[in-house]
Amino acid sequence: MLSPQGRVIMVSGANRGIGLAVARCLHGKGYGLSLGGRDTEALEAAVADLGAERLMTHRYDALDRASSEAWVAATVARFGRIDGLVNNAGIVLHLTVEDDDEEAFDRLWAVNVKGPLRMIRLALPYLKESGEGRIVNLASASAKRVPNTNAGYAMSKFAVVALTHATRQLVWNDGVRVTAVCPGYVATDMTAGVATIARQEMIPPGDLAELVATVIALPNNAAVAELVVNCRLESTL
Ligand SMILES: NC(=O)c1ccc[n+]([C@@H]2O[C@H](COP(=O)([O-])OP(=O)(O)OC[C@H]3O[C@@H](n4cnc5c(N)ncnc54)[C@H](OP(=O)(O)O)[C@@H]3O)[C@@H](O)[C@H]2O)c1
Repeated sequence: MLSPQGRVIMVSGANRGIGLAVARCLHGKGYGLSLGGRDTEALEAAVADLGAERLMTHRYDALDRASSEAWVAATVARFGRIDGLVNNAGIVLHLTVEDDDEEAFDRLWAVNVKGPLRMIRLALPYLKESGEGRIVNLASASAKRVPNTNAGYAMSKFAVVALTHATRQLVWNDGVRVTAVCPGYVATDMTAGVATIARQEMIPPGDLAELVATVIALPNNAAVAELVVNCRLESTL
């Protein structure tokens, strides 16, 4: 395992849910953190107890290109390096093939796919420089099979897995390792309305965060391309 000491990880959507759990887990292990969120006040309040010694917050809105550029620049200004990027921020919209709502399809694409793509592009020079850079993209079990009519979300998450593999091919020789994490139901706000499975049966965000931390800590010769995590038995995952 790599030592967390001195390594700096960026986490998007860190104000709640999986992103906040990942931030807390990585902080507990000793990493430096640059956390991105749309509402910086909410983000600062969510991590206020962690202190500012190894942590900074910055505005990140996937729909605002300039916020991505400013977040990366501020991270490098504060820490002088970037060793990892966790592309966590994402939205779920229920859109079937029959829904004539291209604005909503565009929004899913912009937040779930173009956001991570842009963050990867901006962080890559620093991740390469690290020699042990890590990118973790929060995809979904909905990136592995399509069990319902939600074409919009599944299409966006399949694209995240494609983004993951294309990035792996590009940066393997620079020591950057890229992982798509594909969880089933995680107990966060996103699944608050899910009635088909009890909340206590869902994956706890803290446990998923431990897996993300493990992927980040593994050495270059133990790379995980996809990590599928489920809370229930399905035929293929
Ligand atoms: N929960 C699950 O069952 C599950 C399963 C598989 C995959 N995932 C994926 O895991 C990731 C995190 O999910 P979660 O369950 O933690 O969701 P969540 O509780 O709904 O949190 C979503 C996070 O994304 C941020 N976000 C939304 N739109 C954004 C934008 N335009 N720019 C920047 N940030 C934005 C939110 O910020 P605000 O607070 O400002 O809205 C929030 O921090 C997502 O990519 C999701 O698709 C979740």
